[in-house]
Amino acid sequence: MSDASDARLTDRRNFIRFLAASPVMTPTAVRTLVGSLALGSTNAFAQSYDVLRAPTQAVGDVIAAPEQALNVMDFEPAAKKALPPAHYGYLASGVDGDETLRANHEAFSKIRIRTRRLIDVRKIDTSVTLFGQTYGTPIMLAPVSSQGAFHPEAEGAVAKAAKVKGNGMILSTVGSTSIEDVTEARGAPVWYMLYPTDDWTVTEALVKRAEAAGAPAIVLTVDRQGGRNTETLFRLRRDDTRNCKDCHAGGFVNEVSRKPMFDDLDVSKVTNLYGTGMTWDYVDRLRKIVKGKLVLKGIVTHEDAEEALKHGVDAIIVSNHGGRAEESLFPTIEALPEVVKAVNGKIPVLVDGGFRRGTDVIKALAMGATAVCIGRPYCWGLAAFGEPGVAAVLAIMQREFETIMKQVGALRIENITADMVSVG
Ligand SMILES: Cc1cc2nc3c(=O)[nH]c(=O)nc-3n(C[C@H](O)[C@H](O)[C@H](O)COP(=O)(O)O)c2cc1C
Repeated sequence: MSDASDARLTDRRNFIRFLAASPVMTPTAVRTLVGSLALGSTNAFAQSYDVLRAPTQAVGDVIAAPEQALNVMDFEPAAKKALPPAHYGYLASGVDGDETLRANHEAFSKIRIRTRRLIDVRKIDTSVTLFGQTYGTPIMLAPVSSQGAFHPEAEGAVAKAAKVKGNGMILSTVGSTSIEDVTEARGAPVWYMLYPTDDWTVTEALVKRAEAAGAPAIVLTVDRQGGRNTETLFRLRRDDTRNCKDCHAGGFVNEVSRKPMFDDLDVSKVTNLYGTGMTWDYVDRLRKIVKGKLVLKGIVTHEDAEEALKHGVDAIIVSNHGGRAEESLFPTIEALPEVVKAVNGKIPVLVDGGFRRGTDVIKALAMGATAVCIGRPYCWGLAAFGEPGVAAVLAIMQREFETIMKQVGALRIENITADMVSVG
């Protein structure tokens, strides 16, 4: 620990002693402050007048209830505790040494925020409109497969939590819940993320089913064509004493046909969802059958962004699959500017990867993103506590985002501008 942080800790301890001696402090409030010191959080101090908002007990290393969380990262150890090692490994894993995964989040610390003062920010509006639908927040839920591995209520619990603040949601082709059930739980249409199967009949049927359920956008994920080495998953799987074959029958068709979006479809000709030899011709073919909006997820270069425009794509999600596709990539927040520049305002650009704080969100919006998506954080909440866990994750990120929006002096999303960040 550095001298500076030593000094800060001493200051905090003295401050706690002072507060503990104060006649206005209850024993519970003192415990809260001590707990937040143990967690290394400055939150309670920054909002010291609002101490009653802070968690009501010291929680040790792992939170036992959503209300105890100070930030979304607090949910990860709780998810790890709740899940069997292999399922936690599936959620946690990047590829190879997880460098892209780590870089995604670490890159945010290189970007500084510039705040403006003396603006009345008591009332702000965080809503965004995308493809004619208004969402309460620019924080959307990225498609995450197989959420039944994290909690029995899976995507249904996520959708119910997303309804509260109006978070947009994208359902994965290989989700554990059907689009009809998710749409009902969300109380509004969700976007549908498509993996390009190698049987066009199946692909077309998936698109039609999603559109019949009201999906305004089909999101084609384009970053999983070469295979991958999910080492963290493989390592943690070694610690799992269960027999994986009890649930996973093995073989591609068996795995695919377990997923409800493939119900009633003949998947016997599908051999692969990922390495299908997909090219821009496939995008053109899809463009012809998609009645609503077509979105590409996994674009990280200006060259591909320019190509996407030529092929009539309606939006791009700058994404490296949360560091689960390739190692040694640029963090997505660093890839965002070249894509934004290439697109030049013609279509919305979304971004995901490593978003853990409200400040991360505002940085991306200031750099030209229309919205951001989060993946692992809401799954940590789901795994640890089901729907209330997801709701808490979304509420914390939203609260942090609203706080920084006010601090930069932005009343609406359109007021978040490039001069509010300084990169490098
Ligand atoms: C367990 C897991 C499963 C995922 N499944 C999919 C998927 O089915 N389709 C997809 O396009 N992206 C998938 N992703 C990537 C996410 O959509 C998103 O790009 C990524 O999680 C964002 O990074 P973050 O987890 O750091 O927020 C998955 C990510 C995780 C962690």
